[in-house]
Amino acid sequence: MFGARVRPLWALATDCIFLNHGSFGATPIPVLQAQSHWQREIEGQPVAFLGQELLPHLERARSALAAFIEDDPRNLVFVENATTGINTVLRSLPWQAGDKILTTNHVYGAVRQALQFLRDRYSVEVIFAPVPFPCQDVLSALLPWITPELKLVVIDHITSPTALLFPIREIITYAHSQGVPVLVDGAHAPGMVDLHLGEWGADWYVGNCHKWLCSAKGCAFISTQPQWQPLTHPLTISHAYHQGYLQEFNWMGTRDFSSWLALPEAIEFLRSLGISPSRHYNRSLIAEGGHILATALATKAHISPQVFMLTLPLPDDWQCHSPQSLHDWLWREHRIEVPIISWQDRLYIRISAQVYNELREYETLAQVIESRL
Ligand SMILES: Cc1ncc(COP(=O)(O)O)c(C=O)c1O
Repeated sequence: MFGARVRPLWALATDCIFLNHGSFGATPIPVLQAQSHWQREIEGQPVAFLGQELLPHLERARSALAAFIEDDPRNLVFVENATTGINTVLRSLPWQAGDKILTTNHVYGAVRQALQFLRDRYSVEVIFAPVPFPCQDVLSALLPWITPELKLVVIDHITSPTALLFPIREIITYAHSQGVPVLVDGAHAPGMVDLHLGEWGADWYVGNCHKWLCSAKGCAFISTQPQWQPLTHPLTISHAYHQGYLQEFNWMGTRDFSSWLALPEAIEFLRSLGISPSRHYNRSLIAEGGHILATALATKAHISPQVFMLTLPLPDDWQCHSPQSLHDWLWREHRIEVPIISWQDRLYIRISAQVYNELREYETLAQVIESRL
C-alpha cells in the first residue's frame, strides 16, 4: 500500500534513498499543485486578492488546522517556520536581567541561539536541564528543574537531535502547578502524533506544517492562549499593530501566502493516505529499519513510541570525523540522504520513516555502513 508505490506522489529524485524527511519535510506533488493554484489566484489580480480576498481564504486554512490539531482557531496564527514562531514568542516577552528560562540539553540548535540572544541582550539566565539519552523516564529527569522562580519553560515535543517524544501534557500541568508558563517547540509533532492543543493548554505551542503534515514549505503556526495574546506580537510590526493578535499576524507585509492557503489541501492529502494506516506503516518501518541499522552499528535502538525518527550513536572510531564529511560520503558516494548529528560531543545518525520509504532502503544504508566498519 505504501513504499515505492506512493513515492511518485512526491517530487523526490528517483535515483536516491531519502531517509531524511525530518530535516525539511518533502512536499507531495498534489500539495505543490494546490500551492501553485493559489499562486495563480493571487497573481490573477494581486491587489484585489491581497487587499480584499485574502482573509476568508486564511480563515479557511486556520479552521482546517484548528480542527486537525484540536485548537480554538482564535488562538492560531501562521508564521513561516518554527524558528520564527519560537523567536516571536521569546522576543515578545518583557525580559529583565536575572530572569530564568529552563530548557533541556535536547533543545534545537536555532532555539538555543535564540535563547543565547536573550542572554546577551537582557542578561537572562538560561538553564539546560540534563535529560539522559536514551531516556525511559523524562519526567523524573525534568520535573525537579521546574521551580516557581522560572519565568518560562521552553520544551520540545519531539526532540530534534535525539528523536524523543516528551510527555508535554504532564510537563505543562506540572509547570502550571508551579506558576510557570510553557512554550512548546512542536516542530516535528503535527502530522506525526495526535495533537490536543485545546486540552493541553500550553501557553504557546509552535508547530511546523512543512515537516510531517506535508504542507508546502514556509508553513508553521503559533497557538497562543488568550491571556498571552495581547503580549504576543509578530517579529515584524506592520499596519495592524494594536488591532489584535490575529490581525497583526495576518498581515506582516507583502509575502507569498500560498503555502498557508494550500494547508487544507495538505491535510486532505494526509487524510487521503489514511492517517492511521500511514502512521502505522511509518512506526513499523522505523522499528524494523532501526533494528537493522542498530545491528549493523552494534548498538540498540531505543525508539520513542509514535515517533517516525530514530537516532543511533555512531561507533567510537568514527567520532574523529566531521558530521559533514560522513554525510557527504553517504550522499556523494552512495546517494543516501541521512543526517549525521553532533550532540553532546558525540556523533549520531538519525533516520526518518515516511510512507514513501521501504525497508530495503534501511538495509542498503546498513550494508554501506557495515562496509566501512
Ligand atoms: C525541534 C525543532 N525546532 C525547530 C526547528 C526549526 O524548524 P524550521 O527550520 O522550520 O524553522 C526544527 C527543525 O528541524 C526542530 O527540529
